[in-house]
This record gives sequence, structure tokens and C-alpha cells, in this order.
Amino acid sequence: MAFNLAFLSSILIILSAFSPVITALSSNYYDKSCPNVEQIVSNAVKKGVANDRTVPAALLRMHFHDCFIRSGGPNWDVPKGRKDGRTSKATETRQLPAPTFNISQLQQSFSQRGLSLNDLVALSGGHTLGFSHCSSFQNRIHNFNATHDVDPSLQPSFAASLKNTCPINNRPKNAGATMDPSSTTFDNTYFKLILQGKSLFSSDQALLSLPKTKNLVTKFATSKEAFLDAFVNSMIKMSSITGGQEVRKDCRIVN
Ligand code: HEM
Ligand SMILES: *[C@@H]1O[C@H](CO)[C@@H](O)[C@H](O)[C@H]1NC(C)=O
Ligand SMILES: *[C@@H]1O[C@H](CO)[C@@H](O)[C@H](O)[C@H]1NC(C)=O
Repeated sequence: MAFNLAFLSSILIILSAFSPVITALSSNYYDKSCPNVEQIVSNAVKKGVANDRTVPAALLRMHFHDCFIRSGGPNWDVPKGRKDGRTSKATETRQLPAPTFNISQLQQSFSQRGLSLNDLVALSGGHTLGFSHCSSFQNRIHNFNATHDVDPSLQPSFAASLKNTCPINNRPKNAGATMDPSSTTFDNTYFKLILQGKSLFSSDQALLSLPKTKNLVTKFATSKEAFLDAFVNSMIKMSSITGGQEVRKDCRIVN
């Protein structure tokens, strides 16, 4: 399935089918106040994607950030009716997991929000889309530790190309790498790359450090269907993270 907005739209539909069972949020939250909300949002997003194919990546990441921080930000959620925060602070992005996190740090960050190791692996598959700046993986390619300049779990020629893109003394602000070679397609390539030592972040590579998470990586690398299934389930869970105070009337400002 190509990740054009058909994919997000299908998530909308799949979410609407399942959400009442799992969450207090509701798929018909807007039935009366805004009939056809899915159609309206989907049309707006399609227009955006027609202009810029990186829009889905930005939206997906934003969704993750909104759920992990105290759920501030735009009200672009399914299941719907999630409460937005009354404040939104850039400094609160410090609550997000860092790309340098090891498996225990990732597990802790996710479990604090009621998300399991399963969710961690499935949701990390969001890194099938998009782009990363050099700063997010420079820990792996320069001065990795006292004995290794480069993280030995990186495949050598891949590490060399990253070093080439992100030289130590010359850091162009916009330089970086796409998450995978098919970075506008929502597929399971990300998991295949992890197994080849070609993932960008320590936090991606860390998914191999426990037998349980490694088995999931292998499973998702083998079956795109298994990945998509798990991803949708975990997205529903992540969408249901609570902590906000109100449903905004205008998504850009507090009521
Ligand atoms: C497991 C913990 C996670 C960590 C440590 C992490 C870290 C990061 C970092 C460092 C970047 C690149 C920022 C930059 O240098 O520009 C990034 C990008 C991205 N992340 Fe994550 N992330 C995590 C989980 C997730 C989840 C759960 C999702 C969504 C389901 C997600 C979706 C994305 C997407 C789509 C991008 C690309 C954004 C773009 O190209 O505009 N990430 N992530
Ligand atoms: C992960 O990092 C933390 C903090 O640096 C450290 O205390 C912990 O032992 C590390 N865990 C693993 C599995 O490496
Ligand atoms: C550096 O990292 C490698 C691979 O993780 C590890 O085997 C080695 O012990 C580390 N060296 C130091 C000094 O921590």
C-alpha cells in the first residue's frame, strides 16, 4: 500500500471501526457538530500531500509528539474527542524519548504512558517515513565511545555514507538522511534495515537488544501485514493517551 493519504484515511476508517471497544474517545464524537469531519480532514490532507509528499511524515510525527507531551496541539485525532492541553510549551518536548535512548530507557518512556514493548516496536515503524537531521544520529558516527569512533552495530558502508553526509567539522544545518530509501511509502523496510545495521538512531538499533523486541522486529521485517496490523492497534492506544483538559473549539487556541 502506498502511503499517500489513502493510508491515513484507511487508518481513520479502521480506527472508527474499533475505537468504541478500546477507548472512551468516540468515533462519532463529531457526528452532530461536524458531520463528514473525516471527509473534510482527508480532503485537506490530500491537497497538502499533492503539494508536498513529506506531509504524511510530518503529520505522523506530530501525532506522536502530541500524544506524548501533555496532549497539546492541533486536534487532528482519531479516535476523536481527545482533550487538548491548555498550554503548549516547546520545552516540554524534553519529555519525548531521545534517539540516543537504549532499550531500558525506551521501555520506561513508553510504559509511563501505558504502552508496552509491543507498542514500542510497532510504533517505531513510524520511522518508515520521513527525514532526520545529522544531529539525531551523530552520536553513532563520531566519538561513539572510548574504544569506537563509529557504532560497531552500524553496517560499515552505511556508516561511511552517513559520515560523508554529516562530516564532524562541517555541519550544514539542513543536512541529514531519509529514514529509509522509500521514505514516502508506508512499508516494512524500516524493520529490514534494522536487521542490516542500517537504521539511523541508537533507539532503532536498540530494538534488537531484547529477545522479545528482536523477535518482533524480525516478524515485522518478514510480514508487512503483521506490521500494519500491529501499527494500527498501537496507534489507537497511543491516540487514547489522556491528560488534556478540554476539546478545543479552535485547534490553535485554548478555549
Ligand atoms: C521510539 C521512540 C522514538 C524516538 C527516540 C524518535 C526520534 C525521532 C527523531 C530524533 C527524529 C528526527 C528528528 C530530526 O532530526 O529532524 C524522528 C523523526 C520522525 N519520527 Fe520519531 N521517534 C520515536 C518514535 C516515533 C513514533 C512512535 C512515531 C510515529 C508513530 C514517529 C514518527 C516519526 C516520523 C514520521 C519522523 C520523520 C518526520 C519528518 O520527516 O518530518 N517516531 N523521530
Ligand atoms: C541504559 O542507559 C541508562 C542510563 O545511561 C543506564 O543506567 C542503563 O544501565 C542502560 N541500560 C542498558 C540495557 O544498557
Ligand atoms: C563501546 O561500544 C562497544 C559496542 O557497543 C562495546 O563493545 C565497547 O565495550 C564500548 N566501549 C566502551 C569503552 O564503553
